[in-house]
Amino acid sequence: MLGFLALHIAALLFWVATLVYLPVLLASSQNRQSQLSESPRQYDSVARFVFTQIASPAAIVAIIAGTVVFAINGTTHLWLIAKLTLVALLVVGHTLIGLLVIRLERNDGKSVQPWCNLLLIFFCLMATGIIWLVLAKPAWEIGG
Ligand code: HEM
Repeated sequence: MLGFLALHIAALLFWVATLVYLPVLLASSQNRQSQLSESPRQYDSVARFVFTQIASPAAIVAIIAGTVVFAINGTTHLWLIAKLTLVALLVVGHTLIGLLVIRLERNDGKSVQPWCNLLLIFFCLMATGIIWLVLAKPAWEIGG
């Protein structure tokens, strides 16, 4: 079980780090793009590489390893249900940042900045909430 927990923690650290990095990378890339005379070749942005080759595989490994730990432990406390609800929201955010990568590459002049600011705050709040729940394990009772 410890091996899966260690894999879970390692993968989630990569996942959360790339989710915090991507909004910053996207916003700065768009600023740079606007300065370039000739736009870079589509579909090979650094953001796409980080999203497809680091963030998404890390998310899959974190979720599979976490599910294995869950299955072995059989933990059904309310804090874990609350944690998995926040994880589901994190996955929605992950999808939205993927859509922003496509928008950046389309270079259609629409700013990604406001969405990047929102998602950066969202990812920081979600990650803090998840890690607090799993480390503090508040003794909430159903109906308590
Ligand atoms: C579907 C996704 C996930 C599942 C099923 C899952 C499940 C679990 C389970 C069962 C544990 C062991 C808890 C215990 O009894 O101590 C655990 C530990 C942990 N999880 Fe997850 N998790 C998921 C996603 C995440 C994510 C996205 C994060 C962070 C952003 C996270 C952070 C942690 C941390 C930090 C621990 C270690 C807690 C400790 O040291 O005691 N998990 N996870």
